[in-house]
Amino acid sequence: MCGIVAYLGKSDAPSVLLNGLRRLEYRGYDSAGLAVMDGGRMVVAKAPGKVAALNDRARADWPDERFNRAAAGIAHTRWATHGPPTEANAHPHLDNSGDIALVHNGIIENYRALRSRLEKLGHVFHSDTDTEVLAHLIGECHHGDLFRAVCDALHQVEGTYGIAVMSARDPGKIITARCGSPIVIGIGDGETIVASDAAAIIGHTRQVIYLNDRDIAEITAETVSIRDLDNVPVDREIAQLAFDASAAEKGGFEHFMLKEIHEQPEALRNAIRGRLDFHLGTAVLSGMGTSPRDLAEISRVVLLGCGTSLHAGLVGEYAFEDLADVHSEVQQAAEFRYRNPILGPHDMVVAISQSGETADTLAAVRESNQKGAFVMGLCNVVGSTIARETGRGVYLHAGPEISVASTKAFTCQVSVLLMMALKLGRGRRLSREEGIRLAREIESIPDLVAATVRQSDHIAEIAAHYAGHEHAFFIGRGPLYPVALEGALKLKEISYIHAEGYHAAELKHGPIALLEKGTPVIALANAVPGQDKTLGNIEECRARGARILGIVTAGDSRVTGLMDDFIEVPPCHPLVASVPSAVALQLLAYHIARHRGCEIDQPRNLAKSVTVE
Ligand code: AGP
Repeated sequence: MCGIVAYLGKSDAPSVLLNGLRRLEYRGYDSAGLAVMDGGRMVVAKAPGKVAALNDRARADWPDERFNRAAAGIAHTRWATHGPPTEANAHPHLDNSGDIALVHNGIIENYRALRSRLEKLGHVFHSDTDTEVLAHLIGECHHGDLFRAVCDALHQVEGTYGIAVMSARDPGKIITARCGSPIVIGIGDGETIVASDAAAIIGHTRQVIYLNDRDIAEITAETVSIRDLDNVPVDREIAQLAFDASAAEKGGFEHFMLKEIHEQPEALRNAIRGRLDFHLGTAVLSGMGTSPRDLAEISRVVLLGCGTSLHAGLVGEYAFEDLADVHSEVQQAAEFRYRNPILGPHDMVVAISQSGETADTLAAVRESNQKGAFVMGLCNVVGSTIARETGRGVYLHAGPEISVASTKAFTCQVSVLLMMALKLGRGRRLSREEGIRLAREIESIPDLVAATVRQSDHIAEIAAHYAGHEHAFFIGRGPLYPVALEGALKLKEISYIHAEGYHAAELKHGPIALLEKGTPVIALANAVPGQDKTLGNIEECRARGARILGIVTAGDSRVTGLMDDFIEVPPCHPLVASVPSAVALQLLAYHIARHRGCEIDQPRNLAKSVTVE
């Protein structure tokens, strides 16, 4: 998704802006640009491609002393939605006078009508973007007060935005605003930095303010003044950033993805710490804001998410039904928001989102709130929009997940969902003894994952046998069926191999027609209920020449004879088995992609947080 960085301070703005954009590269983008103010003069540089290309362009266009003297600027990485990734379409965009520059995340829904009206007033446009219309609109509304101009322009806008605006006529100040696209303001010592993601702010300060929808802030190097769209002053608390600069670095690993896979034991300990009560055999999740009576009155659990978060929800569905004896269902968030869902006060909706900014999941939250459901968030990013709009829920505490391919977020999501199901279950029919036993199983997850991660080199050797294929199938049953889906997604998104996940029983209903000699079939053959049926499905695949890679329970030598290769995971509860098994498939996907020489942390076409529909 697009990234915004804006800066007012004492040190050289271009370097601060470019370093900030580099910290946002993981979000995925295809062009970049910046505008800096040198006294009363504004200079702009934009380039398709990576931030490095922008740096070269800016330094070629400006003499060094001007480049290093500028103390104010705005910058942007663009993930194309309207118009191709060209220099003309890159942000910042200018108004007709060339004095006002704007960077924008989000979508201006009514840009065509606004553009037509502005063209009749003599405005000349140079791009295909919706964003440029907003720059011209602000220019049209500017009669001496930049804050007022932005406020008046935003009143005419329909859609979503996170913006930063500066003007050569108002040097020393920047206006920033949000509606549907995150903006965070870093309060430094004699400097202020604005960004769409806190990762760009670490290294400058840990004191931050998260804007709410309809907030507009006027910032200088020393001050932050926030009002709402009705020009009413609002007071936003200063929060502490939960991680530091080193956490956003690779820590010696070749890729963020490998670092985050190896971080999982620690991330899981953080997600579980202090949340299990071994005396009462339950989970302590105060953020859910639920009393035992609230829990007893829940008649259905609806789990919402997209992509990997949707797969975590599918594991949660089994857990809530198995542990809490409550009807549960998973809904793809984009579908849910448009289907006019039947929801009421006895439905608990759990919105699962690592970033807390996924547009479809956010919209599903808003729809659920409208229907009076009991809505909570399961997010990793503190202060994210979904976390704040659900008002209650559980943070993952997994630390920043930089790689586009989600790994530690998934395992932490599943672990927290198991704890939520345990808590719900103990409010209903689950006994104290069973609850204590399950709490011990959940407590063991970090060690199970640590044992799996230690097999990375072995998995790399196995991966070499599969890196040359262009198709692969993943199969599983029960709570391991979502793991098959997740394993296929991991392989697809970082190695570009066409991989599909199926319920093990589903293959013979059509997809088995695609099996040829040597086609890889990755089977979740753990020693859990349903294993014997899965072994039968493996036999069906072998009979057609498939190459079988099994995820098996350590020591289960009965099944390894059916496989060409296998990866062992420690024995554990069937619901818990989804976590180490997923880690094994994360490593498999990583090593296959590495063998194929793929760009692992920022795969083509993908973004870390999909903040558009
Ligand atoms: C997973 O590897 C992908 N990055 C993607 O499917 C992701 O899980 C999805 O976009 C949802 O993101 P969220 O968890 O931040 O809402």
